Amino acid sequence: MNKNSRGYRAWLPAERWTDKSRIEAWSPLLGRIAAGMELRPDETGGPGASALRELVGGIGTLTGLTPETSLQAGPPVVLLGSLAAARRALNEQAALPSAEEAYAVRVGRDGSDDSSGEGWYAVLRGGSECGLLQAVFAFLRLLGTATGGPSELEIVESPRNRLRMIDQWDNMDGSVERGYSGDSIFYRNNRILLESPRIADYARLLGSVGINAICINNVNVHREETKLITASLLPDVSRLTKIFADYGIKLFLSANYAAPIELGELETADPLDEDVRRWWSRKAEEIYAAVPDFGGFVVKADSENRPGPFTYGRDHADGANMLADALAPFGGLVLWRCFVYDCHQDWRDRSTDRARAAYDHFKPLDGRFRENVVLQIKNGPMDFQVREPVSPLLGAMPNTNQMMEFQIAQEYTGQQRDVCFLVPQWKTYLDFDTCLNGPGTTVKRIAAGEVHPFAHSGLAAVSNIGDDDNWTGHHLAQANLFGFGRLAWNPELSAESIAEEWSALTFGAGTKAAAFVEELLMASWPTYESYTAPLSVGWMVQPHYHYAVDVDGYEYSKWGTYHFADRDGVGVDRTIGTGTGYVGQYAPENQALYGSLDSCPDELLLFFHHVPYTHRLKSGKTVIQYIYDSRFEGASKVEAWLERWQELESGVDPERFSHVLRRLEMQAENARQWRDVVNTYFYRKSGIPDEQGRQIYA
Ligand code: GCU
Repeated sequence: MNKNSRGYRAWLPAERWTDKSRIEAWSPLLGRIAAGMELRPDETGGPGASALRELVGGIGTLTGLTPETSLQAGPPVVLLGSLAAARRALNEQAALPSAEEAYAVRVGRDGSDDSSGEGWYAVLRGGSECGLLQAVFAFLRLLGTATGGPSELEIVESPRNRLRMIDQWDNMDGSVERGYSGDSIFYRNNRILLESPRIADYARLLGSVGINAICINNVNVHREETKLITASLLPDVSRLTKIFADYGIKLFLSANYAAPIELGELETADPLDEDVRRWWSRKAEEIYAAVPDFGGFVVKADSENRPGPFTYGRDHADGANMLADALAPFGGLVLWRCFVYDCHQDWRDRSTDRARAAYDHFKPLDGRFRENVVLQIKNGPMDFQVREPVSPLLGAMPNTNQMMEFQIAQEYTGQQRDVCFLVPQWKTYLDFDTCLNGPGTTVKRIAAGEVHPFAHSGLAAVSNIGDDDNWTGHHLAQANLFGFGRLAWNPELSAESIAEEWSALTFGAGTKAAAFVEELLMASWPTYESYTAPLSVGWMVQPHYHYAVDVDGYEYSKWGTYHFADRDGVGVDRTIGTGTGYVGQYAPENQALYGSLDSCPDELLLFFHHVPYTHRLKSGKTVIQYIYDSRFEGASKVEAWLERWQELESGVDPERFSHVLRRLEMQAENARQWRDVVNTYFYRKSGIPDEQGRQIYA
């Protein structure tokens, strides 16, 4: 690990401003700090202490100043600059919103007090120490994105989503399922890496964008990870819990549904069996005795060959409730995943549709889950493809807590070798109007618990980090981790503003590199889509690996993932009349939208319909011509990025310059391969030539 690598510092303050006039302009505001917080004489930790450390450290890194700091017991407030003016402003300010993590940042200038030079002051307030930590990070973002001196402003915020969670798919042998940036930072050789400073640095990164929960092991819980809830490993889990608590983050574990059997203590995991229930209750007592702040369990059950209640003829509500009852006395949650489908399908069977599975399994159970169960639903009905519609289960269970799951790890979206900024994709899901409670029933409102009075709800996402120096393999993939946190905090933020903020924080505010990176990020998902997945056809990837092109890789498999391309056309008929009926899982407005060829948006056409290659899209192009054109456009776009990046050599540090260059070269090669394989495949199937006569390998 090279902690001095520029990538390691990610978007947090990393280097001194080169512009001296900027430092001078901010100096009056940054020279003095008075902080109020709960003082813990026996301990050093807690989010308040982290807030102060981050503030002083961030100011020092960016400006070289060492603020004169005083600390006293009191509410979670930090005053900066002209302290008398800051105190006056504090007394005038309205109360914060009631959420604990609410915060306010006010920067002002008060002419009546010139003891600090110009009377600049700032007041950072939190509804709790966690809120104060958010105020500090917001203030550091202000500094990091500023191109000039301070200006007067007031920000008052509280998070829209209560749970803002990161799921690690890390295994205790040190591997990471779907990891594209090295090995696990948490485990090696079946041990927890408590000595590693990376874990605390990761907590900082997550805390800086408002993440408040983390699950530290893979949803597929194998033998060693099953032991995380036993006496041998709970003390280590407890230590990890403290590291994350310093940044306001609660720790969860993925649980093995069959743990009582796997640990050799019972012969059944039947959720209605009294011994099983008692086993989990005692287990919960043991866990909370060792880890009082424990968040709860994430559970993947009866999914992709994982154990679950089906073995005993029970359903998901029986399984989830049994665990929920065990955790309830301690305030723990069960985050029960809905990624449940038949993974032993026969490709010859055209009536079974994997896309239907989550809704078919869970919708009938609405109202049967306990208050402390939250159903965790993937954003789409299949599996984190480049383009899918919204999962129809979101919002369809008004009496059951729900949260939505995204994947920051770029499993199907370039594996952190190709640039693919996913925030614009996530926005399409969050902004989608399910119409389930009338117009305006958007997914972001459902996930935030604003439509149905969910006791718990929010957003979770699979992490994209590992032990690579820059955390995420591709340096630009950091933008996805940053973006998820920012969006989970406030889903109204635009993708552009997140790209702009990250680019400025990472490549320097106002620089040419930041401007180009922002443009590149914003174009990257549409570009990735244009050379890989035409009109929402997914799965044309090498089985298991999911990166390189293999058009028929999953076509005759057991996974329920088909595109049905033949000589006449392509796509899956999911309509009610002639198809699998999946469309019927949406509200009537969206059934009408997707069910008709006239209204179905082009980008989702082949997810919902099987059409001839000569079908005309709304643009007037035929499907086959669109396939050819977009492949050529996508591949040449990546070539153009490569050239543009080369022009930036003098404006980017050598480490990141050559790193991004190498990745763009790989991406260009990948895009060429996709272009030629997909074009050739569809030319051979359809026999229809490219109107523009470009090179297709017949
Ligand atoms: C995908 C992924 C698996 C993962 C699964 C899940 O299928 O390829 O590695 O375990 O999703 O979300 O459970």
